[in-house]
Amino acid sequence: MDHFHYRDGRLACEDIDLGTLAATTGTPTYVYSSATLSLHYRRLAEAFAALRPMICFSVKSCPNLAVLGLLGELGAGMDVVSGGELRRARMAGVPPERIVYAGVGKTDAEIREALGGTGSLNAHPHERRSIGVFNIESEPEFQTIAAISKSMGLSGGSAPVAALRVNPDVDPKTHAYTTTGKKETKFGVDLERARAFFRRFGRDQHLRLTGLHVHIGSPVMEVQPFVEALSKVLGLIDELAGEGYTVDTLDLGGGFGADYTTGASPAAADYAGAIVPLLRDRVEQGLRIIMEPGRTIAANAGVLLTRVLYVKESGAKKFIVCDAGMNTLMRPALYGSFHFIWPADVAPQHVPESRAADPGLPGLESADVVGPLCETGDFLAKDRPLPPVARGDLLAVFSAGAYGMSMASRYNSHPLPAEVLVDGAHARLVRRRETYDDLLAHEVDAESVGL
Ligand code: LLP
Repeated sequence: MDHFHYRDGRLACEDIDLGTLAATTGTPTYVYSSATLSLHYRRLAEAFAALRPMICFSVKSCPNLAVLGLLGELGAGMDVVSGGELRRARMAGVPPERIVYAGVGKTDAEIREALGGTGSLNAHPHERRSIGVFNIESEPEFQTIAAISKSMGLSGGSAPVAALRVNPDVDPKTHAYTTTGKKETKFGVDLERARAFFRRFGRDQHLRLTGLHVHIGSPVMEVQPFVEALSKVLGLIDELAGEGYTVDTLDLGGGFGADYTTGASPAAADYAGAIVPLLRDRVEQGLRIIMEPGRTIAANAGVLLTRVLYVKESGAKKFIVCDAGMNTLMRPALYGSFHFIWPADVAPQHVPESRAADPGLPGLESADVVGPLCETGDFLAKDRPLPPVARGDLLAVFSAGAYGMSMASRYNSHPLPAEVLVDGAHARLVRRRETYDDLLAHEVDAESVGL
C-alpha cells in the first residue's frame, strides 16, 4: 500500500499531479511520498512493538537528507556504512546513540569520526558524541577500532559498543549479488570463528563486545530464512553466556521485502509473526533489539519520472527510449530486477489495477523500455506490455524509492536527477537537478597534488 494513485487516468502522489510536477521540475526526477514513508515506518514499528526495537533506517537505500529527517522525527535511528552516510545521519539531526555503523571496509578517518573525534572527513561541527554501535566484520577491524578508541581515551563505560556480525550460513533465496548470509560471502565471521572472537576480544576495555549482528541478504521475500538465521544466532548467544560473555544487543539487520509486484512480498506483520515469538522473552530479560530496514520502508515510497524521447522499431522489436536509464536506476541492468512501469497519463481502459508485468488490459503493445546510454545493458524493462506511448509522454517507474537515486551515476556524463518529497498538496524539491557546471566542477577546480 502506498500513496501513488491514478485519478481520472492521471497519476498522483498524495495530492500532487505528477504530470504537472514533471512539467515544472523536468525529468528524470525521483518523487517520494512522505505519507508512504511514515506509513511503512509505523507499520514496522507497530508489528515489532513487543520487542521495543531501535529501528535504524538503512541510509544506503534512500539517503536524501529530507527523507532521513522525516524518519528521524518519527523516532528512527540510522544504519550507516560510510563516513558520508554518517555525515548525512548527523546532519539530519539523528542523535548519535541511534546510529549504527556497518561495513567491511571502515577507514581510520571514518572510525575516528564515528567515535566523535575529528577525522579528516570535513566533519559536521555540531555533534561530537560517539555513535551507538559498531557492527564489526573482522578481527583486524576490531583491533583497529579498539586502538583508535584507546588513543582517544575511551574506555570502560565510555567505550563504544561493538556487535560482531555473524554469518549464519543461511540461504536467503535472493539475487547472488545481494546474498550476504552464506558462508562464501565477504560479510561477517562464521559461527565457529565468532566463539573464538569473543574469547579473544570479549574483555576489551576500549571496545565493548556485547552485541551480535546478522544480515542475511536483501530482499528476502520469505520469513523462513530469518527464522533459521535467528535460531542459529540465539544458540550462539546461549553458548557465549555459558562461557561468561553477555550479549545484550542483537542487531537483526535489514532485508525485508517490498512489493515490486502487487502482493508479492510478506507484510511487516508476517515477518513479525515469525520473529517476535523467538525474541519476546529475551527482550523481557534485557536483550536490546536493533533493526536495519531500508527497502521495506523506501522502495514503494518513491517513483522515478522519465520522459519518452523516441519510440523506435528495430526488427520485430519496439523500443521506448527514455531520458532515464541504468545511470538513473541501475537495478534492472545490474540484477535483472522488475519495476512496474506505466504512463502517468492514460485512457480510462488503461488505468492499471495491479502492478504486474502484464496487468491484463486490452490494447497493450510489447516494448523494451530503454535509456539513452551507449550500452546494450541500459534498460529499465524488457518485453513489457504497455499502452501506446509517444514522444513526450511521461512514464512512471514504480517502487524506485530504495536503491534508485542512491545507486545513480553520471555515466555518459548525464547530471544526476532531481528529487522531490511530497507531503499532501505540498511538493518540495529536496535535491536540485545537477547542472553541467556541477558535472565539471571537480575537474575545472582541480588542483595540483602538491608533490
Ligand atoms: N543492513 C545491512 C548490513 C545491509 O547490508 C543492508 C543492505 C541493509 C541493512 C538494508 O537492507 P534492506 O532492508 O534495504 O533490504 N542494491 C541492492 C540492495 C543491496 C542491499 C545492501 N545491503 C538492490 O537494489 O536491491
